[in-house]
Amino acid sequence: MKIFAANWKLQKSPKEAREFFTELLGGANRPILSKKDRRLIIFPSSPCLEAASDLLGASPVWWGAQNCYSEGKGAFTGEISAQIVKDLGGQVILLGHSERRVLFNEGNEFIAKKVGYVQSLGLIPMLCFGETLSEREGGKTFSVIGSQLKEGLKLADRSKQILLAYEPVWAIGTGKVASLEQVQEAHQQIYQILSELGFNSQVPILYGGSVKPENAKELISIPHVDGFLIGGASLETKSFLAIADA
Ligand code: PGA
Repeated sequence: MKIFAANWKLQKSPKEAREFFTELLGGANRPILSKKDRRLIIFPSSPCLEAASDLLGASPVWWGAQNCYSEGKGAFTGEISAQIVKDLGGQVILLGHSERRVLFNEGNEFIAKKVGYVQSLGLIPMLCFGETLSEREGGKTFSVIGSQLKEGLKLADRSKQILLAYEPVWAIGTGKVASLEQVQEAHQQIYQILSELGFNSQVPILYGGSVKPENAKELISIPHVDGFLIGGASLETKSFLAIADA
């Protein structure tokens, strides 16, 4: 099973989200959406979650929020509740995206709490991690990834579902996709680290960072690449589905 997840970030109004979902579910696309060997996931901005609930609810496409707080209810102004996402029928919550880590100072400890909380609700966390350019150039890629995984997964329940997305920060939104060798090496290492941490060998490891229809085919054939987290190229149904069809 390959997983293709769309990270819309702060793009699209609810009206545009509804148009996208209607187009995505349109007759011609139905065969690819219901293929048993792939799963599509959409992470719209939070004002569009209700549109996802309305239009994707009865479809094979999963959806969820781009972030959440580590509790579901209370005096947490401005936060997103995974409990509300669950009540709306969502399945997945994106956590630890590099933009959350860098722009909003989220650390591994806070992210770990969210991972545990999301699993406790019966939802699936998709934990993002990856090194910056200076960490890569300083030869620290695997120690950084290792600690992001070890600390970020500290409260994860090994018996429950989890998804991982390796995104080298320098490849996000830059058009600079990691080379096939770099992706292969990283995914092999991640697979190894997960087994050392006691995770099942079936935990899906997605790659993210400038994935496009043009590079999807090569990237998806790399061992231990179980799908993609897609930003820019997920904003149009045509490119998103071309990637999922690669
Ligand atoms: P990109 O974004 O595909 O535009 O590089 C990926 C992401 O941030 O998840």
